[in-house]
Amino acid sequence: MSALANKNQKKELKEVKKFNLRKYREYNKMMRKKRVPESEYLTKMKNPENIIEFDNLQSYFYTDVGTVKAVDGVSFDIPRGKTIGVVGESGCGKSVTSLSIMRLLQGPQGQIAGGEIRFNQQSTGRVLNLAKASIKEMEKIRGNEISMIFQEPMTTLNPVFTIGDQLCECISLHNPQMNKKDVEQRALETLKMVGIVREGILKNYPHELSGGMRQRVVIAMALACDPQLVIADEPTTALDVTIQAQILDLLRELKNKINASIMLITHDLGVVAEMADYVVVMYAGRVVEQGTADDIFHHPAHPYTIGLMKSRPMLNQKVDRLYSIPGNVPNPVNLPAHCYFKNRCESCVEACSGAYPAMISLSETHKVSCHLHREAGAAVRQAGGAKKQTGGKQNVQ
Ligand SMILES: Nc1ncnc2c1ncn2[C@@H]1O[C@H](COP(=O)(O)OP(=O)(O)OP(=O)(O)O)[C@@H](O)[C@H]1O
Ligand code: SF4
Ligand SMILES: [Mg+2]
Repeated sequence: MSALANKNQKKELKEVKKFNLRKYREYNKMMRKKRVPESEYLTKMKNPENIIEFDNLQSYFYTDVGTVKAVDGVSFDIPRGKTIGVVGESGCGKSVTSLSIMRLLQGPQGQIAGGEIRFNQQSTGRVLNLAKASIKEMEKIRGNEISMIFQEPMTTLNPVFTIGDQLCECISLHNPQMNKKDVEQRALETLKMVGIVREGILKNYPHELSGGMRQRVVIAMALACDPQLVIADEPTTALDVTIQAQILDLLRELKNKINASIMLITHDLGVVAEMADYVVVMYAGRVVEQGTADDIFHHPAHPYTIGLMKSRPMLNQKVDRLYSIPGNVPNPVNLPAHCYFKNRCESCVEACSGAYPAMISLSETHKVSCHLHREAGAAVRQAGGAKKQTGGKQNVQ
């Protein structure tokens, strides 16, 4: 490396550090704030039928190599009582989106840099922008109204405490009025709900249970307080297929029982097809397509979604090798100005070298961010966006 290039690199690094330090200070100042006036985070839903509305959410990590734009302008809704499947390649920002709802990004590096996460709080009738809500509000919401099931149960369960200690602590924390006996009773009822009726289970340690049972305990903890929204981040990836099917049945059953909404994050398109009412496809920190499960599975419009659908194993098709999308995701620190999928796309047109494609409505429920569909989008706009368009969609079976 020449001396000049070396000097420039050092200068750039210094600037990144200076910028990050400013961001860390801003974050620490915000965290130290004892009182956040309600006017700073109370807002209105666009549609009161939704429980969550992401509106241009930006969640960044300020690292030594630059700003990682993990989630960069994500907008989608989670309707009450419905299941939303979130799919996309590893590293596309699925977990960061869900952690942003809970405000569990690893600060000060990880921060919500912009946008709103509107939460329709049933218990108070208020709408809170979770991106700005006070920590006190968040503590009331976490586990109580919104709960999370993580992929690996051992990251949630503490190996040195019994199942009873952990489940009872979770219940009594959210129901301080309950006495010890009632809490234990509630813990047993919740375990029964997830199919665990074992004598002395409350005295067992996590290592004394099977993987499937541990995941059920985690689900029991997530459901102990009848949440309005359950975020399940790869809840079945670590489990074998029989247990996986049981856990999915359980989630479905419980969703109907308590009319909760589910945000289901998974790589498994089969699970999404089985569970989701709506599907959101993410790529490199952005939503590239969204619609009903039928829209996405039977009429995928974005070349990335089409590739994803082609890469599924199909029962009635015999192939030597499954299709895989060639190329790699762009570096989240240095994202291009044009479509992020351009370097892997087989359907590129001239416009693809221009500005990043806007989100286009193909129907009332189906949206895509791709230059190929500009005409179909314009036709929908002309028709008032009411009629379902079939032009511009491709069937992939
Ligand atoms: N603590 C962190 N510091 C820096 N970058 C991070 C951090 N956590 C996540 N990222 C980056 O944010 C981006 C999105 O990560 P995320 O965990 O949301 O991916 P994902 O879609 O959930 O992937 P997977 O399917 O593998 O779980 C990735 O580029 C990742 O490297
Ligand atoms: S905008 Fe262009 S490059 Fe991007 S997915 Fe659509 S066709 Fe491909
Ligand atoms: Mg993840």
